[in-house]
Amino acid sequence: MSESIFSLKDKFILITGASSGIGRQCAITFSEYGARVALFGRDQNRLEETLGMMKQPSDHVICSVDLLEYKQIADAVKVVVNKQGLIDGVVNCAGISTTLPLNAISPGKMEDFFRVNVIGAVNLTRNALKLAHFSVNGGSIVFISSVMGVTGESGKALYSMTKGALISAVRSMAVELATRRIRVNAISPGVVDTPMSKHAVYRKDESSINRIKSLHPLGLGQSADVANASLFLISDAARWITGTNLIVDGGYSTK
Ligand SMILES: NC(=O)c1ccc[n+]([C@@H]2O[C@H](COP(=O)([O-])OP(=O)(O)OC[C@H]3O[C@@H](n4cnc5c(N)ncnc54)[C@H](OP(=O)(O)O)[C@@H]3O)[C@@H](O)[C@H]2O)c1
Repeated sequence: MSESIFSLKDKFILITGASSGIGRQCAITFSEYGARVALFGRDQNRLEETLGMMKQPSDHVICSVDLLEYKQIADAVKVVVNKQGLIDGVVNCAGISTTLPLNAISPGKMEDFFRVNVIGAVNLTRNALKLAHFSVNGGSIVFISSVMGVTGESGKALYSMTKGALISAVRSMAVELATRRIRVNAISPGVVDTPMSKHAVYRKDESSINRIKSLHPLGLGQSADVANASLFLISDAARWITGTNLIVDGGYSTK
């Protein structure tokens, strides 16, 4: 029997946001497909919970660090490479979300959101991409953006501008890194059932929830729907795909 075309055997992948939701599911799925994983997140206990759900827990490494601590991030990437070897891929899942009217989007709020969703993700990625850290055989980088990065919704300007920035950055990174055979892509999910969406304003009453559900022709997503798309883009099955934004939204953006 041939090995799955999605196999991640012998690959070492960094996943941020691995303590919750989509990042956690990416870690679990990737371990099932043979990857060794570095789990990045802030909450040590929830990172350990994720580790306990993965195949071969002893193959993986936990890194409890805030993406905003740039020096610690640089050190942490170095440490995991020393432990596990060169990196073959990164999934940037960590992120924060909000729904705020324009008049409430102060410069401070904008800075906070750009720091985590954009600077945090790109800074971790540039550390991972150092010649001393990344495989000479190339690899794959995924940024988890959002369908809000390509469509509009009232109260979503702040979140959307950070997610749109990632989609834009992906195209130029893809061109720049192609000579190293490193592919760079974004995934833009619609609403996925995770701790993040459970705390969203549209969860406050039944009619708001039903409205959000009705906007997704295939219903709301599960973390596995995004983890499976990430698996595809990280695997060699996607070897000729770079600079794209894969929309995984149950049909939200088709209407
Ligand atoms: N859920 C959705 O409906 C949806 C839709 C579209 C896009 N997305 C995107 O998908 C990604 C994952 O979302 P999710 O729903 O899985 O969210 P989640 O369950 O709230 O998880 C967010 C993750 O980000 C990490 N994180 C946040 N700030 C961080 C920081 N400063 N440093 C390090 N880690 C940090 C959290 O770590 P700790 O908990 O350890 O602090 C957590 O692991 C996000 O980028 C989100 O924008 C989600």
